[in-house]
Amino acid sequence: MDEQADLGRQQADLSSLKNGPPRSEIEAQGGLKLIYIDPPFDVGADFSMDIEIGGDTFTKKPNILEEIAYRDTWGKGADSFIAMIYERLILMRDLLAEDGSIYVHCDWRLNSVVRFVMDEVFGRDNYLNEIIWHYRKWSLPVKFFQKNHDSIFYYSKNVQSPSRVFNVVEYQPPSDGTLKRWKGKKQNATFDESGRRTATNLEEESTGSPLSAVWEISIINPAAQERIGYPTQKPEALLERIIKASSNEGDLLADFFCGSGTTAAVAERLGRKWICSDLGKFAVHTTRKRMIGVQRRMKSDGKDYRAFEILNLGRYERQHFVGVNPNLREEEQRRQVAQKEAAFLELILRAYRAEPLAQF
Ligand SMILES: C[S@@+](CC[C@H](N)C(=O)[O-])C[C@H]1O[C@@H](n2cnc3c(N)ncnc32)[C@H](O)[C@@H]1O
Repeated sequence: MDEQADLGRQQADLSSLKNGPPRSEIEAQGGLKLIYIDPPFDVGADFSMDIEIGGDTFTKKPNILEEIAYRDTWGKGADSFIAMIYERLILMRDLLAEDGSIYVHCDWRLNSVVRFVMDEVFGRDNYLNEIIWHYRKWSLPVKFFQKNHDSIFYYSKNVQSPSRVFNVVEYQPPSDGTLKRWKGKKQNATFDESGRRTATNLEEESTGSPLSAVWEISIINPAAQERIGYPTQKPEALLERIIKASSNEGDLLADFFCGSGTTAAVAERLGRKWICSDLGKFAVHTTRKRMIGVQRRMKSDGKDYRAFEILNLGRYERQHFVGVNPNLREEEQRRQVAQKEAAFLELILRAYRAEPLAQF
């Protein structure tokens, strides 16, 4: 059992990863092979949420940093969301390996915007799919078709890269028309659960059709074991498909809006290394708790797992607060930096309800 803290298992801030020392460690691991992000797309639901603890429901109010992040993300509606996601996608592109893949999850509220920004940042030529995740839920009495799907945009950093990973991991049974044709030729075929043909007397060997970009996966059932109670938690089956298709064992993956840690949980189970981050403190703690549970299960199954490390607060917030106007005189810049450092320290202390140490 390797219990060494591993670079690939940190909660960290995106820009500190790009600009700080972890960058060279990420590069030493071959860069990020896969990024999946599920940024907030429900205006108003980022940081205040209803959570269940021991059968009771509490409304979790945003803390100071979350309030600031919320203002930055939604203060000017879709405009500020675009600015937020654009900035972060540029950082992600730089961290992604040359042969890496990125999946961005959104729904009808923002899919037009996200597709546009992805084309801009990754280039239209690197567009691979718009995955439609279709699920069933209660029908609403509306005068339009039910909105029962999300979009997941799949791009590569460089579609031409010969080492780009794409594993065909699932197959779907042939259409009724194809089956009829086969039956007409008196050919029999049976399929396993994933659609792969198992027994056949067909002349040509075939495995069924590789999975299309329309995926039918159930939303998490309230009684499901994987349910954490995080309001925007995505099903593990969805992440499993993405991770298996676009990475191999031992690869380093990342999710920079990790929420309840679905990406990390599935990555760990599938033997991938991972980095997750989230601006929300509750999300980081939820992910930590979930990962401890995953490790426990792996330990009791006799499987290897690695320890992970949690880093709190990166440079994003610090730069946001202590950046000064470079056109000012040096002395004025120094004065502003000192003033902003003090305000930043005060903010952190307030956010964590902490007291400064006199001799520190
Ligand atoms: C839709 S949820 C992700 C859910 C996750 N896929 C899961 O399965 O649990 C979006 C997450 O983004 C986080 N978030 C919102 N704004 C952010 C920002 N500017 N930077 C990083 N995380 C942010 C929220 O705290 C929330 O946990």
